[in-house]
Amino acid sequence: MDHESHPPQPDPARLVPRKAVLRAALAATAAVPVALIGGPALARTLTAGGVAVPLTPACDDGDHPTPPQTEGPYFKPNSPMRTSLLEPGMAGTRLTVTGYVFGRSCLPVSGVLMDFWQADANGAYDNARYRLRGHQFTDSRGSFALTTIVPGLYPGRTRHIHVKLQAPGRPVLTTQLYFPNEPRNNTDSIFDPRLLMTVRDAGGAREAAFDFVLDVPQGPGPTPTPTGSTPPGGTWTVGTTYRAGDRVTYGGRGYVCLQAHTANPGWEPPNVPALWRAA
Ligand SMILES: [Fe+2]
Repeated sequence: MDHESHPPQPDPARLVPRKAVLRAALAATAAVPVALIGGPALARTLTAGGVAVPLTPACDDGDHPTPPQTEGPYFKPNSPMRTSLLEPGMAGTRLTVTGYVFGRSCLPVSGVLMDFWQADANGAYDNARYRLRGHQFTDSRGSFALTTIVPGLYPGRTRHIHVKLQAPGRPVLTTQLYFPNEPRNNTDSIFDPRLLMTVRDAGGAREAAFDFVLDVPQGPGPTPTPTGSTPPGGTWTVGTTYRAGDRVTYGGRGYVCLQAHTANPGWEPPNVPALWRAA
């Protein structure tokens, strides 16, 4: 259980306008919802019922990264790479979660590994296989989209989705996402209102939004690309940042990297065909 006290909330008056501008700019190539342009109507400031909720840490002066949360007992490494966790016959209300991943200077971060896991509609985790588990990478605009179901409740917790994020060459952030207007939000000691998603009904399904801020240093200009004193290559090694096209050897075989990522235990090339192809 994580009973850490939390730092003060960022000043909403400072963070909303800049974030609204950022989101609008990032969404410029798509249709920009009117709600994203006006500061006060920005997603997370209001719930579907019009009730104000605490603002999630966001891009203001760059010193409020998304807070970490306990991993809990049910994380499994080596999840499949997929943006949809839906499977035929899966019970539950359909849910999409979309958003951006920003660094400390409010620039989007591409290539961030995002590993989601959650309970099924009955509140059960699949610990034998990988049902409702999957990882993906943010795209060139730093955005992500997860298709899944609304997780069920299990004893002692409010409704939540687990996620680990790792920008290239950076430490892993482990945290959880929450749903507004859940009765158990008031009694769950792990719950943190800064991690509330914006959720709205959409024709029998739910649409949620959340933007992450990672502790990734960023100067002016484009998102930094991973750098290292040692060029990737040679034998596959945990902790090394690989880029698409990098070549390694593992177990006497050669592999080519398909997606930029930082190597974690359990992601050995033969185990993660989404990341490595035999050369
Ligand atoms: Fe959980």
